[in-house]
Amino acid sequence: MEETTQNNVISMPRIGDKAPSFKAVTTQGNINFPQDYSGRWVILFSHPADFTPVCTSEFMTFASLEDKFAEANCKLVGLSVDGLYSHIAWLRTIKDKIEYKGMKNVEVKFPLIEDITMNVAKTYGMIQPNEDSTKAVRAVFFIDPKGVIRAMIYYPLSLGRNFEELYRVLVALQTADAFNVATPADWNPGDDVIVPPAGSCGTAKDRMEGKEDMKCYDWFFCTKELDKEKIKKALFGKKSEKIIMN
Ligand code: BEZ
Repeated sequence: MEETTQNNVISMPRIGDKAPSFKAVTTQGNINFPQDYSGRWVILFSHPADFTPVCTSEFMTFASLEDKFAEANCKLVGLSVDGLYSHIAWLRTIKDKIEYKGMKNVEVKFPLIEDITMNVAKTYGMIQPNEDSTKAVRAVFFIDPKGVIRAMIYYPLSLGRNFEELYRVLVALQTADAFNVATPADWNPGDDVIVPPAGSCGTAKDRMEGKEDMKCYDWFFCTKELDKEKIKKALFGKKSEKIIMN
C-alpha cells in the first residue's frame, strides 16, 4: 500500500504481502533480504536509536533469547536509521559495560542493519511521522519461510516490547500452520485451539452433535485439545525433548 502525506510517500506492507526485498549493510556483513532467510522464519524489527535506554534494554533481552528463537527456526534482524559505526560502538558498549536485570556480557550476534538513507525503514512503514519523522518506531515483522509477512506489531518510541509475547506469536503462527487450527485469546502451547480456523464453518452441525472430538460453545466456536508435546514434535522435530516451551 502506498499513501502520500504532504511530500512523503509512506509505504505500509500488509499481512499476506511478500516481504519487500532489499540489500543492506549490517553488523554481520551484507544481507539480501528476505532471500538470505529463505526456508526459515525471520523477525525483522526496528528500534528508534542506538545509545538509548529502552532500545538497550530491548537488545539485551532479545540477544539473550536468540537461541530460543533459533530453536524455532527463526532468525532475528534488527534495524535503525543509525550508521554502521554507531551500531558497532553501541553493541560493544552493551557487551563491555551494561549489566541489566542479571544480563551481562551480552553479545548481539544477529545482524543490525544500518539504514541512514531510511530507505528500508520507509518501505516497511517504520517511519511514522506523527510519532517521529527521523526515527523508526518499534516495528516487528514476522516473515515466514516463503518470505510472506504473517504478522506485524508496531509500538511507539516510549514502549519497550515484550519478547515472550513475540515468541508466543511465532509459535502460534507455526502451530496454526502445522495443525490447521487457530489460536484463541491469550493462547499458549498446551491450551485448547480453535477448529476449524476462524472464517470457515466446516461441519458445524456434526460438531454440535458431538461427532468429533471437540468442545463447542456454539455452532461457530469449537475448540479441541492440542498437546504441547505434539506441538514440540511438529515444530522442533528431534530436538523437541530439549525444548522448554512456556
Ligand atoms: C529509548 O530507546 O529509550 C528511546 C529512543 C527514542 C525515543 C525515546 C526513547
